[in-house]
Formats: sequence, structure tokens, C-alpha cells
Amino acid sequence: MHQRTVIQAAIAAALLVAGGAALAQERFRIGLILPMTGQQATTGRQIEAAARLWMAQNGDTVAGRKIELIVKDDTSLPDMTRRLAQELVVNEKVNVLAGFGITPSALAVAPIATQSKTPEVVMAAATSSITEASPYIVRTSFTLPQVSVAMADWAPKNGIKSVVTLVTDYGPGLDAEKFFKDRFLFNGGKVPDSLRVPLRNPDFAPFLQKVRDIKPDALFVFVPSGAGAAVMKQFLERGMDKAGIRLIATGDVTDDDQLNDMGDGALGVVTSHHYSADHQSAANKKFVEAFQKANKGLRPNFMAVGGYDGMRVIYEALKKTGGKGGGEALVAAMKGQVFESPRGPVFIDAQTRDVVQNVYLRKVEKKNGQLFNVEFDVIKDVKDPGKTKK
Ligand code: PHB
Repeated sequence: MHQRTVIQAAIAAALLVAGGAALAQERFRIGLILPMTGQQATTGRQIEAAARLWMAQNGDTVAGRKIELIVKDDTSLPDMTRRLAQELVVNEKVNVLAGFGITPSALAVAPIATQSKTPEVVMAAATSSITEASPYIVRTSFTLPQVSVAMADWAPKNGIKSVVTLVTDYGPGLDAEKFFKDRFLFNGGKVPDSLRVPLRNPDFAPFLQKVRDIKPDALFVFVPSGAGAAVMKQFLERGMDKAGIRLIATGDVTDDDQLNDMGDGALGVVTSHHYSADHQSAANKKFVEAFQKANKGLRPNFMAVGGYDGMRVIYEALKKTGGKGGGEALVAAMKGQVFESPRGPVFIDAQTRDVVQNVYLRKVEKKNGQLFNVEFDVIKDVKDPGKTKK
């Protein structure tokens, strides 16, 4: 080798080492924006606990980079979510934005993710269209079309011929209503009415009275996590079950965060969803035990699992990039990930960046004195049926 080439090689090697060391010192920051107070506070509490559990179990260094979690409370107001995301990107130089308790919050951040080329990992929000709002969005929660279609197939096979739908009046509720109704009508069922309640301070009473007057075979409900117990309480107080109206729902209603406090009136309620704390697998048993141990016995719900899996997706992506990160490289490394989640097998669809997963039919039963969503049937590897055809 010529002397000059030797010197050049030595300089290059030295720069590489220095660069590597600088990179190793540079923290990898995850900005976790969640509703920690207000109506959706249970979602924030569950996801933060799950993210911290993931880090406790898997370490806080990935491919030489120290991971830093920065948690911000957006009180589930989308303007606040947007402001916090902006601050996190500009001032804190976060490498990933994550969390997002409700659809309007996830959508508010999409333009920031696109402009700053920052991955936006959606761990909670579940309107189908969210992943189409930015090529930097990857979702680890679920979609309402995914779980609602399963219920519309189950109901008519189980003596339910007419259904009134009752949903919260925003993205995920409208998805639940549309996909349940279209499929149920296709299956020969009747939908005499479709009711919508406001997201903020909902009063279910007048809507339930209307359902009583119509007297369908069943009422199909979607409300966001945290509002399920109120629906259940009013459904029972108004004697809807005694009037012969069955309650069917997405699993957001019999939410594991609240289910055990709903009382025996919840027994027998059938729902469709992607996660139950009672899911029978070694991975889930381990997850539930560790989560409860770290959180004074709190039972993890589907939001916790979305957060836990979101952290896994971020960790794996950082590993795949050899610790280099970079928004585009991270998103590329998130696409196509396949792993076993506490909910069962999960796949991040490389085309849509959305989660493909099993959907389970479950019935509320008592086990060792506690109420659980006990799974009795499964539809495997369900893609989001809500994606518009390109
Ligand atoms: C949403 O706003 O997308 C959302 C929130 C809570 C849920 C489901 C969907 O349980």
C-alpha cells in the first residue's frame, strides 16, 4: 500500500471509531404522548406502564444507544398533542414519536411526522384511515373494522337477526358502525337504527331508552376504552337485558382495565377483540404476571399490549439499523416485523404499515372469582378490512 493510502485508511478508521463513539453517546429518544389525565387517562396509565415494563425486561440500551423515554400528557386534546409533538421534535430532538390515545391526536401529529421524517408509532388509536395520513405512521394497536366484522359474522349465526348500533360519534365509532352494519346486512340481518353519542361527556340514557322502544334482538356498542363501565351500568340499570335485548360489542366495552368492577351483570356479554388478559399462551401469562407485579395488581388491557408491542417494534428497528436510526431507515425496519405478542401472532404489514392479527370472540365469565373475557373462537391473521383499495 502507498503511504498516502495508508494514512487515508488510518484517518478513515479513526473517523469511523470517533463517529461510532459519538453515536453511542447520543441518546435515542422516544417521545411518548399520552392522555395521562381526563377521560382517556386509563389509556395513558396502561401504555406508560407497559412501555416501562418493556424497558425493564429488555434493558435501556439498544445497539449501543441509551434509550430515553420522554412522557408527555396531552389530556387527549389534539391541539395539545400537536404542540407537544412539535416541541419534542424541535427541542428534544426525539427519534420516534409514539403513543396517541385517540384518533384525533394521532391525526394531528401526522403532518409533523411527515415533515420531520420522524416515525409515529400509534399504540392506541384505531380508526382505519390513520396509517394513510403519513408514510411515517406504523400502528401496533388495532382497527375497528378488524374487530367489528367478526361480530357481524358471529351474531346472525347465534339467533340475532335485528341489531341497533350505538357508537361514539368520531372516527373509530363511525368505522365500527359502518363495518358492522354493512356486514350484518350482507349476512341477512336488519339494522332498524344507528345511534351516535358525543365523545365528550356522553349521556347514554336517552339513547338506551330509544333502543328499549325499538326492542331489537341485540344492541351493538363501540365506545372508547374508559367509557365501557358507564355503558354497562346504564344498560343494566335500565333493565335492557331483562327486556330481552342482548348486549354485543367490540372489546373496548368489556375493557380489562374496568371489567372486574362491572359486576355479575356483565356475565355472558359477547365481544370481538384482539386482546384479552385471559388469552391462553405462555407469553401472555408471563406478560400479565409481570405487568401486575410492577403495577400493584393492575390488570393490563389491550392498550397496554399496543404499547408493549410498540416498544418492541421500535427496539427491533433500532437494532436492525445497527443503532444508526434515521426516520426513513427506522420505518423501513419496522415494516414486515413478525413476532409473538401477548395477544398472539402479530405482523406489521409492509404495504400498509398496519397491524395484522388474530381477532377473537370472547364471552364474559367468572374465573377464580374474577370477571374475564374468555376467548371461545378465533379468526386468524385478520388484515384491516377498512383500507381503501388503491
Ligand atoms: C380512538 O380514538 O381511535 C380509539 C380510542 C379508544 C379505543 C379505540 C379507539 O378503545
